[in-house]
Amino acid sequence: MKTINPLIETNDVSYIYQNNQHPKKAVDKITLSIKQGEYIAMLGRNGSGKSTLARLLNALLIPSEGEVLVLSKSADNEEDLWFIRKRIGMIFQNPDNQIIGTTVEEDIAFGPENLGVKQQEIKNRVTKALTDVGILDLRERAPHMLSGGQKQKVGIAAVLAMHPMCIIMDESTSMLDPLGREELLQVVSELNRKDNITIINITHHMEEATLANRVIIINDGKIIEDGTPNDVFTDVKKITQIGLDVPQVTLLLYKLQQAGYLDKVDAITVEQAYERIVKILE
Ligand SMILES: Nc1ncnc2c1ncn2[C@@H]1O[C@H](COP(=O)(O)OP(=O)(O)OP(=O)(O)O)[C@@H](O)[C@H]1O
Ligand SMILES: [Mg+2]
Repeated sequence: MKTINPLIETNDVSYIYQNNQHPKKAVDKITLSIKQGEYIAMLGRNGSGKSTLARLLNALLIPSEGEVLVLSKSADNEEDLWFIRKRIGMIFQNPDNQIIGTTVEEDIAFGPENLGVKQQEIKNRVTKALTDVGILDLRERAPHMLSGGQKQKVGIAAVLAMHPMCIIMDESTSMLDPLGREELLQVVSELNRKDNITIINITHHMEEATLANRVIIINDGKIIEDGTPNDVFTDVKKITQIGLDVPQVTLLLYKLQQAGYLDKVDAITVEQAYERIVKILE
């Protein structure tokens, strides 16, 4: 796939919900640039503005101020809305809300049908999407009879059939058990690695965020951290101050540092922490 730089750009974008009498600025002048092929984890407390930002990025919401550009096309132009929505796919928390078809196959064909894709091409896309996600065997099943994890995979396949450049997951793993979560994350990692599809994973799981190449933390509608998982999570004081967790092993090293056993905290995975602790013991 051709690499175009950047895929998504926002310039001072804000979004205000007009609740009668009580307008709420949910996104507050966010400037952001996302390249194709990035794997981003987005974190922040409840109500910090993550879902609102996600909806701005795929033109489900139109900015109150500032602009959002996808491949240089603006969500402000009505004729470019579908250009953007087609390229930036979204998967939500509750898989039941995104099921449309009576069979898995039909569900996945729905998007391309709406785009006016030809029948034979739709068939090819459905088969490829099901294969990529590893659920070809579920093809003729009724989506509402599947497990939560299977439904989320159908959701990803449905987005894939639209040939997106980016997939945004808005807490899509939150209703899954650890195994279901791991499987889904593996699917998106593969899509990122093999097909260079940009991934934005909105999550409350710190361990999930360590899989990303870039971590963005939103607080009160603003970006307050943006960097590699290592850079962001080892800033333990700042992260915990705003009420978020860091990975457990990072917290352990932080405590060891406070107790004088380490001069810096620089591990976010169990393997890295293991190495540091072995060194102390030596
Ligand atoms: N449809 C809406 N109408 C009015 N206010 C809204 C609406 N949706 C969200 N808000 C408000 O905007 C702010 C940001 O909400 P948003 O859903 O973007 O947060 P979030 O970071 O996704 O939170 P969570 O982690 O709970 O999903 C909150 O204060 C919320 O109450
Ligand atoms: Mg949300």
